[in-house]
Amino acid sequence: MTSHQLAAGELVLLLDSKARRYLVTLTEGKEFHSHSGYITHAEIIGAYEGDTLRSTRGASYTVMRPTLSEFILKMPRGAQVIYPKDIGPILMMADLGPGLRVLESGVGSGALSMAMLRCGAEIVGYEIREEFADRARENVAKFLGEGVLDRYRIELRDCYEGIDEHDLDRVILDLPEPWKAVPHAATALRPGGLILGYSPSIVQVIQFRNALKAHRFVLPETIEVLNRGWYLEGAAVRPDHRMVAHTGFLTVARRGPRLDPLTEVVTDELLDLLGVQDEEQPS
Ligand SMILES: C[S@@+](CC[C@H](N)C(=O)[O-])C[C@H]1O[C@@H](n2cnc3c(N)ncnc32)[C@H](O)[C@@H]1O
Repeated sequence: MTSHQLAAGELVLLLDSKARRYLVTLTEGKEFHSHSGYITHAEIIGAYEGDTLRSTRGASYTVMRPTLSEFILKMPRGAQVIYPKDIGPILMMADLGPGLRVLESGVGSGALSMAMLRCGAEIVGYEIREEFADRARENVAKFLGEGVLDRYRIELRDCYEGIDEHDLDRVILDLPEPWKAVPHAATALRPGGLILGYSPSIVQVIQFRNALKAHRFVLPETIEVLNRGWYLEGAAVRPDHRMVAHTGFLTVARRGPRLDPLTEVVTDELLDLLGVQDEEQPS
């Protein structure tokens, strides 16, 4: 069997003639059932991506491996996930990359965890609900394989009560009250490390930004991502009538310089080192 052929245990998407997608884990002896009959998994195992198979009642299904975005939209969820439209920008804003040590809280269904793990990050997750932690681990292992769990440790604990890790590169928060984690992030992050918060409400953002300022984080930035699809059919070329108008705000900032060990204040020299302008600094 070549690596392009589909194997037992793999995740696949079956696309019907109306481009509806069905997520299936290929398992010997199982069948995929729909209103148009069924296809045995045995017929799909050994097929190639892009092959079209017919159900017992003649409906055609094209088989593809799911992208991460497709998996996130179809995977089992406990908590509400961050959607791919926000996950993409988060990876750039928080500058995720291989080997970075990340504290993520909470982990929810593991959607954002998966994207960060795929960038090569090493994640410690703080999550208060055991069933969500289990769900996140299962989703991560299902899409990225069990091997990635070496870089994904979830602790059942409240992020507002403290962060035990030190010299973290990133703290990524999707919590109802992210400002309560800011004092802990300020000591757990290395100088220059980044903190990022995802919040549905601007009131949450304001409290988060105030806490960042109070704890000497620098270079704060808040954005929202609007993603409008287009309808392109013959002469009808226009934006889609409907769009997801709002999901959440993304706020990023950097851990400021260490205090000068002699004066215990942030000196102009230290600010210069980080390229930070004076007017951005809290008093
Ligand atoms: C919206 S979900 C996170 C979704 C996740 N970002 C994803 O993409 O799948 C928020 C999570 O934070 C957890 N949570 C809430 N308060 C918490 C706290 N104080 N400490 C740790 N986890 C917390 C919730 O149990 C929930 O699982």
